[in-house]
Amino acid sequence: MSEIQPSKWLKWICSSKNLDELCENYDRWAITYETDVGGVWEPVPLAAALMLAEYIDDKQCAILDAGAGTGLVGVALAELGFKQIIAIDISSSMLAKAVAKGVYSSSLCCSIGDRLFRNLKRVSGIIAAGVFAEAHAGAAELLALSEKIIDEGVLVFTARQSFLPQLQEVVNRPEWSPINSKAMPIYDDPMHLLAYRIKKTTES
Ligand SMILES: C[S@@+](CC[C@H](N)C(=O)[O-])C[C@H]1O[C@@H](n2cnc3c(N)ncnc32)[C@H](O)[C@@H]1O
Repeated sequence: MSEIQPSKWLKWICSSKNLDELCENYDRWAITYETDVGGVWEPVPLAAALMLAEYIDDKQCAILDAGAGTGLVGVALAELGFKQIIAIDISSSMLAKAVAKGVYSSSLCCSIGDRLFRNLKRVSGIIAAGVFAEAHAGAAELLALSEKIIDEGVLVFTARQSFLPQLQEVVNRPEWSPINSKAMPIYDDPMHLLAYRIKKTTES
């Protein structure tokens, strides 16, 4: 996939027909992913980690990097001093790259919301960068992530402007409080970086 324009690889990966095909495509892409996304995507993982760090002082607490990919968010979190970073991803090849970075305390190959995911413990913070998009993850997965957060924990995620309406119903829930947002003018469809504090109700 190298030497392909960002708009092309974005279109290619987002046209995967289902999660199995998405997983196969990421498995194939793992070797050149960082080179391919490099220039345009580079500021996003760091911006996401910095946003989370604004609200979580305790660097020993558990942070979940959901859709960790090759580990760019994990590296940024580790540079900010976080010690307990958990990586999950559906693609074993992407996850292997992430694990090789040596910054994660544990990793799990799973899909957000599946049986393995449901066994994960709750964490203080979650980052999902580049995960909420066509053919990747949507409202059900966003809700599943919020269920893995402790009371008053923080969830940071990205979504392109055109995808935000699909997540609106979840983020409008009373337990969700918006605490930060940043629009990043990458791609023709701007990328939004959003942070929410999640309050737990007695049932959740
Ligand atoms: C665009 S990459 C972003 C990787 C990394 N977060 C970054 O910022 O470079 C999206 C990653 O999310 C993973 N992914 C997509 N949908 C997923 C899902 N439903 N559950 C778990 N992982 C998913 C893909 O396998 C891929 O590694």
